[in-house]
Amino acid sequence: MEVINTDVAIVGAGGAGLRAAIALAEADPKLRIALISKVYPMRSHTCAAEGGAAGVIKPDDSMDLHFSDTVGGGDWLCDQDVVEYFINEAPKELLQLEHWGCPWSREPDGSIAVRPFGGMKIKRTWFAADKSGFHILHTLFQTSLKYPSIQRFDEYYTTDLLVEDGRCQGLTAIEIRSGQMRHFQAKAVIIAAGGASRMFPFTTNGAIKTGDGMALAYRAGAPLKDMEFVQYHPTGLPNTGILLTEGCRGEGGILLNKDGRRYLQDYGMGPETPVGQPVLKTMELGPRDRLSQAFWHEQKKGNTISTQWGDCVLLDMRHLGEKKINERLPFVRDLSSSYLGVDPVKDPVPIRPVVHYMMGGIHTDINAATPMPGLFAAGECACVSINGANRLGSNSLTELLVFGRKAALSAITYIQSGASAGSSTALATQAKASESRIRALFEKTGGTESIAGLRKQMMDTMEENVGIYRLGEELETACKKISDLRQRYAGIEIHDKSSVYNTDLLQALELGSMLDCAEAVTVGALARTESRGAHQRLDFTERDDQRFLKHSLAYYHPKEPPRLDYLDVVITKSPPGVRDYSGGKK
Ligand code: FUM
Repeated sequence: MEVINTDVAIVGAGGAGLRAAIALAEADPKLRIALISKVYPMRSHTCAAEGGAAGVIKPDDSMDLHFSDTVGGGDWLCDQDVVEYFINEAPKELLQLEHWGCPWSREPDGSIAVRPFGGMKIKRTWFAADKSGFHILHTLFQTSLKYPSIQRFDEYYTTDLLVEDGRCQGLTAIEIRSGQMRHFQAKAVIIAAGGASRMFPFTTNGAIKTGDGMALAYRAGAPLKDMEFVQYHPTGLPNTGILLTEGCRGEGGILLNKDGRRYLQDYGMGPETPVGQPVLKTMELGPRDRLSQAFWHEQKKGNTISTQWGDCVLLDMRHLGEKKINERLPFVRDLSSSYLGVDPVKDPVPIRPVVHYMMGGIHTDINAATPMPGLFAAGECACVSINGANRLGSNSLTELLVFGRKAALSAITYIQSGASAGSSTALATQAKASESRIRALFEKTGGTESIAGLRKQMMDTMEENVGIYRLGEELETACKKISDLRQRYAGIEIHDKSSVYNTDLLQALELGSMLDCAEAVTVGALARTESRGAHQRLDFTERDDQRFLKHSLAYYHPKEPPRLDYLDVVITKSPPGVRDYSGGKK
């Protein structure tokens, strides 16, 4: 097996991975950086982000407001020291992007434009029309090209982390083009491989978001944190799940039920903001968990519209006018027209909630360090705990910048403390074992299970039992079913025996990652007998700070469900309170 010796191996080349690579290269041009990604960097899911990135820039905004919006929005499950660090770094990172060429949209006077976003009580979201992720990713990618020390390994699928003496010292990856396995010896590894929402059938997430990065760390012994918190975005296209950005509502779009009523006023989300007032009251700008829950109630009351793709409500943007829609929401117009045949200039667009984001992920501390020395994580695959039980829209693009950079700086500090790139026989043996595992999977015949069949059952199980509102019995069903699917996974067979671009093999590996992550979600959700943020239990309807103002930690077991443990939430200055989006109106 070919051995590649490097200083830092980064798994994932989306926003967080690229930001980490740039920070490493800037800090020390002599560092050798291997940027490993299962797709070409510009195909990473960051590209699909639309609405924008949050950071305090305007004089009427403040760090305190960003802090309280984030902590309250997260239903107090955020670590407040981490949130403090995040909000202070946010504007610096967004300005840095500006200096690297990100074409942020502008106010008429040429200053940075910001738009309102859900759960933010003041306009704070920087945007580039409604293609913010695309422009951020381009900016980072093009900046990364300046640094010869960043060596890219595009279309390499990482299969295992290599751990000796409790330290992460490299990884193995398949070169997808040839099917050959490589052993990367590294002093430190940063995982920045995105989320896992493809375990659900109806999601905004691209097909690549299969939890591979989370599963890598989890199987190697690092815990997954707060996995039970899965975010539904209130406005997805009903047929495809494609996102219609919160920017639609930020720009003034409204949500209507079948009677044409702005139903959010019936769910504790107060009156509209009077013209000229800077602090926003909510309605359509409420947080995502509350808006998705309101949809569920409207559906139960029979107030939704039945369509060929299921029940929907309407997102009405007609009053914004063609000029504004073309300037601020061109992609939304394009997506609605192309995928649904509805032009938002002329008609309201049917939408429904869709799985969008995982608040949980690889447990890291404020330094983006996992409990395993040498292993760092950033972006959606990580849970650094700024999002708590419900992420506010537009905090995640900023998060991947702030903590992508932080992971890089922490990796450098770690390396400077004397870490070496493991070249021991034990690590070589592990790399060989990894290769053998893949070969055995590849060569196996007589399989009893189909990959597509197991994947469908996993998705159906998650959708039916682990949705916007959850119930103990249904979660128990999900736990049993996912555990059973994990056992049955041993019976799959790879039918395509070729080595070049073997997507059959990749899909098998991705399914294994999703099943492991899905089990952490279901087990965590069953054990959390309270309602908080995006985790709402019909059988435990109240938030229970006494018992559950805690992060859950799931520890992997190859054959059994994960062991759960809990960790106190860091509260520095904001004791748990009531989330009030009523604008004073009850
Ligand atoms: O609605 C959106 O544009 C999504 C943004 C986000 O998830 O942060």
